[in-house]
Amino acid sequence: MKKPIVVANWKATKTIKETIEWIKSIKSNVENIDDVDIIICPPYTALPITSSLLEDTNLKVGAQDVSKFKKGSYTGEITVEMLDGLVEYCIIGHSERRKHFGETDDDVIEKVRNLLEYSITPILCVSNLDQLDSYLERGKIIVDSAEKIIFVYEPPGAISGGGVYKPNSHEDANDNAGKIGEKLGKKVIILYGGSVNSDNATSFFSKENIDGGLIGQGSTDPNTFLEIINST
Ligand code: PGA
Repeated sequence: MKKPIVVANWKATKTIKETIEWIKSIKSNVENIDDVDIIICPPYTALPITSSLLEDTNLKVGAQDVSKFKKGSYTGEITVEMLDGLVEYCIIGHSERRKHFGETDDDVIEKVRNLLEYSITPILCVSNLDQLDSYLERGKIIVDSAEKIIFVYEPPGAISGGGVYKPNSHEDANDNAGKIGEKLGKKVIILYGGSVNSDNATSFFSKENIDGGLIGQGSTDPNTFLEIINST
């Protein structure tokens, strides 16, 4: 395992007030942790306050998505230029965005391209190996920039389940993370995402091919998230 990375993906939860409370309750416990990289991805509305509250800590800030468009008449879109200076990371290609908003592999590749241009690290979700092949076929940039991207193996059946998706899921996750690594190279960072909680985190994080986790539901409660960080 490389230096572990734990990413909090709050999804469409938390007001600005709730964000401030969450950070207040966890900050003193995590601000000096330097053997794990911790990345907090709040909703867009809470990004400025999160960046400002975490400015003097080791915690990093990420967005949950970015527009594939650079600028222009795209009402409601948040572009990479708007994220510039506010975040160091951005989640891309989450299966919930495919399912609910019709995002395609080409959209994802465009977003990766935009983020890399602004030196924002994409946290790129991969549902399965066929999808990875499709990314690699369509976007040479994914191969060429693989070491600048954090990959996440996220089997859609495991996401938002609030539990483990099948009894041997940590073995399956390790196998698939290993296969992703074979295609992209040993230096590439590969996280696991999907129903990681304080009970199962150690079984995922102890696997040789898994470098950390993308945590949805388990990151919304600060104490659970702290336990997950301490499981790396
Ligand atoms: P989950 O979500 O931990 O709630 O399953 C993970 C993710 O998709 O970010």
